[in-house]
Parts: sequence; C-alpha cells; structure tokens
Amino acid sequence: MSEPFHSPRTAVGIDFGTTNSSIARRTPGGVQLVRFSNDSQSSRSILYLEKLANGIHSSSGPAAIERYLAAHRQGDQPGRLIQSLKSYLPVQTLTGTEVFGRHYTLEDLISRILADLRVRAEHQFGLPIRHATVGRPVRFVGAETAEDEAFALTRLRAAFVRAGFESIDFELEPLAAAYAYQASLDHSETILIGDFGGGTSDFSLLTLGAKGQRKVLGNAGLPFAGDAFDAKIVRHLIAPALGSDSFARSLNKTLPAVPAWIYANLERWHYLSFLRTRNVLEILASAHKRSLEPEKIEALLALIDQDLGYQLHQAVQRTKNALSREQAAPFVFAGADAGTLDLRTSLTRAQFEAWIAPELAQIAATLDALLAASSASPAEIDRVFLTGGTSFVPALRAIFEMRFPGKMVTGNEFTSVAQGLALASAG
Ligand SMILES: Nc1ncnc2c1ncn2[C@@H]1O[C@H](COP(=O)(O)OP(=O)(O)OP(=O)(O)O)[C@@H](O)[C@H]1O
Ligand SMILES: [Mg+2]
Repeated sequence: MSEPFHSPRTAVGIDFGTTNSSIARRTPGGVQLVRFSNDSQSSRSILYLEKLANGIHSSSGPAAIERYLAAHRQGDQPGRLIQSLKSYLPVQTLTGTEVFGRHYTLEDLISRILADLRVRAEHQFGLPIRHATVGRPVRFVGAETAEDEAFALTRLRAAFVRAGFESIDFELEPLAAAYAYQASLDHSETILIGDFGGGTSDFSLLTLGAKGQRKVLGNAGLPFAGDAFDAKIVRHLIAPALGSDSFARSLNKTLPAVPAWIYANLERWHYLSFLRTRNVLEILASAHKRSLEPEKIEALLALIDQDLGYQLHQAVQRTKNALSREQAAPFVFAGADAGTLDLRTSLTRAQFEAWIAPELAQIAATLDALLAASSASPAEIDRVFLTGGTSFVPALRAIFEMRFPGKMVTGNEFTSVAQGLALASAG
C-alpha cells in the first residue's frame, strides 16, 4: 500500500490555555516541546489585530505583545489586543466581535492563534502537522449545561479545522497532566491531579500503572482560576484608587461618582478598550467635575484614554506572582503622564487571601466532593500532583497540603498538559 505524501503522520499535543498555550510531540525518547523564546516553552494565548495599509494584520503570542507595545511607544493608536478567548467558547450568545468595522467570529479569532502555533511547530519539528490531541477543561468557563459544553467543543473543533488541522481528538486537561506525571513512574500509584490555570480549576483522581495502565476514578472542574484572582485585585486594590468608592455631589445628595459597571469592565482588562467611547468619556468628564475626589477620576480617565488595560493587568500579575513568594508585595503602575496616573500601593498576602477566600472554599469543597463521590479516602491516595500557573498560590497549595501531608509533587506548571497530550496522541 502506498504511503500518503507526508508520512509518517505526525500527531502533536496542543494545550490551548486561557492564558498560555503549548505544543509538544512524542519522540522515541519522550516528548519534545516547541520553544517560543530562549526561556519559554509556552506562548501567551493572545491575539493582536491591527490595521495596516494593506488590510488587517493579526499576530499572536510574543509577537502580538511586541507589536502592541511598539505601537504604544510610538504613540500610534494601537490595534485590538484580545485574550482569554477560550473562556467565551460555551457562550452561545457570543458569536464574535467587531474589530475595525468587521465582524470576526470567535472560531476565526482562535484559529489565528492555533494556525500560528501549528506553523511554529511545523518549522521546529520539520514536519507538516494536521492531527492533534487537544486539551479540554472538565468544565468550560460559562458552561451551564451539557449543551453549552458540546457547543464549546464544536466551536473549538471548528477553530482547529480553520487553522489547517484535519483531525482532532479531545482529552481532559487534568488527565493529560496525569499522563505526563506517569511517564516518570516505575510503580503503580493512585494519584490526585489539580490543574489550576487562568480560566479553570480541574481535578482528576486516577490509578496509574507502571506499564501505562490507567483507571480513572473521577473528575471535577470549576469554571474559575487565576483570572478570577486578578479580578479580585482590581476590584479591591485598583478600582478604589480610581474612584470606585468615591462620591459626587448631586444637588444636595451625594451619590457614587462613576457607575459601577465601568469598574466591572476593568476586571477583565481586555474589556478596557471597549470603554473608550464618547458615552463613557462624557460620563467620566461629568463625574470629574462633581466628584469629591477628582484626582481619582482623572487617573481613571487617563487609564481609559491611554488604553492601558494590558499594562495594568501585567502590573496586577506581577504583584500576584510576587505574593506567591513573599508576604507582601508592592503594586506600582504609572501612565505616560505620571502626574495624572500614578498608582503606588502594596498588598499583603493575608489581604489577597481574604479576597480570594470564597474561591478557595469552593475549590476545597469540590475536592472533598470528588473524594466522597469516588469513595477514596485521603489515605488511599499516594501522590498529589499540582500543575498550572495558579498552583503557585500558597493558599491553594495549603488546601492540599492539609489533606495530604508529605504527598505533594509539583512541577512543569506551564507544560505538563501539552506533554501529556503528546503522549496520548497517536503519532
Ligand atoms: N507565580 C505565580 N503565582 C500566582 N499565579 C501565577 C503565577 N504564575 C502564573 N500564575 C497565573 O497562572 C495562570 C496561568 O496559568 P496556566 O498557563 O496554567 O493557565 P492556562 O493553561 O492558560 O489556563 P486554563 O488551563 O485555565 O485554560 C494566570 O492566571 C497567571 O496569572
Ligand atoms: Mg491549562
């Protein structure tokens, strides 16, 4: 029988994450990950659309961020930077978005990121790539029903097809992380996996054999993770410095200076660019006149006017990441004109933990429910493997350390899912 032109069939594992994506292939000795820079094997799941003389140009990952920041530095009106696209997949009412007067479907936007990943992998592996094993969360953000889940998968598959893939197999992300862990195992273990990313928190409980055998005992998922923690920092630390608690004079009453929905949009930084409308700028100009703390409204106006959502979010993440190492961390952020927009404050780990306490409680409850549903007592679990960027948060680790002392393993926070997907792929 004749072999197809591009034999052998190369299958890869692709972790299209809410925040970061990575791609890996199986090799005779193990797994090879695509490099995106000298020190990174994952790429931000971010898309930048800009209007050039010859039409609209898209870029993704590190190139998107570079182009966006370069436009800012040159004082050009930057294009649209879009992130966390995965979180919209199950939302049936969200078909896409308008950019430069053109409607882009969600599948189209995601496919541009996926196509760039595919091309980069082809270049590094020196092989055409048309097949992939793709990760999926146990529960997509915003999915209320099984129908929403199915809708999310249909759209994700369509995005892969648009990006030039011919066939796609889905695998649960925490199971993929388990397969990556299993690669180094020389005996059987019952293992609990916790994968805490940007959008979702996923759990799997399974027994792994030394020869690759697997028995899944249960899975569970929550539709929030690191993005929700960032939103808490914006709500409690940043928004008040921009007037969310400020009042304005109105006849002989005092009322909130700025409507709350404007601050809600700050919590998802990529919505900030939607606030640059005449309506919002008029609301803010009037609030500025009446506010008892006009300097805070002026800072908010500068943030929106200079379209600094991405930069603000980076500053939030720097503080959050530092709190995973330290008990307190500074928050520093200034606009082009530091006289108007200059936020300098600090945050303690204890404050941050108080703000995320409801999410931590839900994580603990979901974990306990999974253990109860699979009739596994903590003593029967040999090992707990935590992965994903949000697993660096000490209070989250503590939930597991308390229940499973001495059984914790962590590692490959940004690549274990892609590695496991590559191992699960047929290539
Ligand atoms: N040191 C750190 N401390 C706290 N949070 C961190 C740290 N490093 C990264 N994060 C957070 O981890 C998240 C990204 O993790 P990861 O790359 O695993 O997510 P993802 O795979 O893109 O998302 P998902 O799996 O939910 O689709 C972000 O919210 C990021 O802010
Ligand atoms: Mg992930």
